[in-house]
Amino acid sequence: MAAKGRDVTQIPQVRLSDGHQMPQLGFGTWDLNGEVAQRAVTRALEVGYRHLDMATLYRNEAWIGRALAASGIARNELFLTGKVHPDDLAPAAARRALETTLTDLGVDHLDLYLIHSPGVRRYGNAYITCWDALQEFRDEGLTTSIGVSNFTADHIAALHGMAPVVNQVELHPTYSQPELRAQMADREIAVVSYSPLGQASDLTDQVVQQIAETAGRTPAQVVLRWHLQHGLTPIPKSSHPQRIADNLDVFDFELSREQMGLIDSLNRPDVD
Ligand SMILES: NC(=O)c1ccc[n+]([C@@H]2O[C@H](COP(=O)([O-])OP(=O)(O)OC[C@H]3O[C@@H](n4cnc5c(N)ncnc54)[C@H](OP(=O)(O)O)[C@@H]3O)[C@@H](O)[C@H]2O)c1
Repeated sequence: MAAKGRDVTQIPQVRLSDGHQMPQLGFGTWDLNGEVAQRAVTRALEVGYRHLDMATLYRNEAWIGRALAASGIARNELFLTGKVHPDDLAPAAARRALETTLTDLGVDHLDLYLIHSPGVRRYGNAYITCWDALQEFRDEGLTTSIGVSNFTADHIAALHGMAPVVNQVELHPTYSQPELRAQMADREIAVVSYSPLGQASDLTDQVVQQIAETAGRTPAQVVLRWHLQHGLTPIPKSSHPQRIADNLDVFDFELSREQMGLIDSLNRPDVD
């Protein structure tokens, strides 16, 4: 029997600077291939995730589209994020990529479309014209909101027109990017934390494990709670049915100020 989903109205929403809202916890889909992606997303939707983080680069959008179609969940209950492939920064290529994403997912618009990476080393300033194209896609209704990923504050300052509503960056306890977080807060840009568990490596940290034991929670739940209490939006990925459910079950406990401080002190930016 399908697991009972949590009441999705309990998932807090982040208000974006363009006035739209984003569920404050999403499901990551990188490294989920073929039927594994379809099964994992089916499970995620069953247990209550409504925010899916996707990308052309992950080469699994058609499989995710099958899970979406079979779920029967209304489009307006979902928050779907896609990303321009790092090689598709030219406006015509970005448009083709977005159209393919929409076809593969079986939807007529995304909720959030991101430039996956500025790609300066390979493509110079192409990210700037790509941003102009994303504003057109938004005006045409192909995506509700637009944002960036892996951008520094300087990359963002170089963009013309409206500001991105989201910057999706690597962020987890041992790489917690306090400076970038402050810069994004100043610009009212919401931060989405990718690799929020440190690709599982932060889960074996002794401090995290001790707090988990005290709280009667898993290390992953403690780390996800740390993101939420910092106002961040984590997008954990798992292919395991139980972990998929556990990673969403983080809205009924709180870390103390002291526990938050202990996890904050794990930041080791140079080791990453
Ligand atoms: N914008 C970008 O450039 C970018 C880059 C990287 C990632 N992302 C996005 O961020 C998402 C998440 O990042 P990520 O996949 O790199 O790393 P992550 O979510 O930090 O960690 C995923 C790893 O943790 C394991 N895991 C998940 N839940 C667990 C739990 N409760 N207990 C123990 N282990 C657990 C998973 O293994 P199992 O699957 O075996 O459970 C997997 O190995 C990606 O899927 C993608 O959507 C974006």
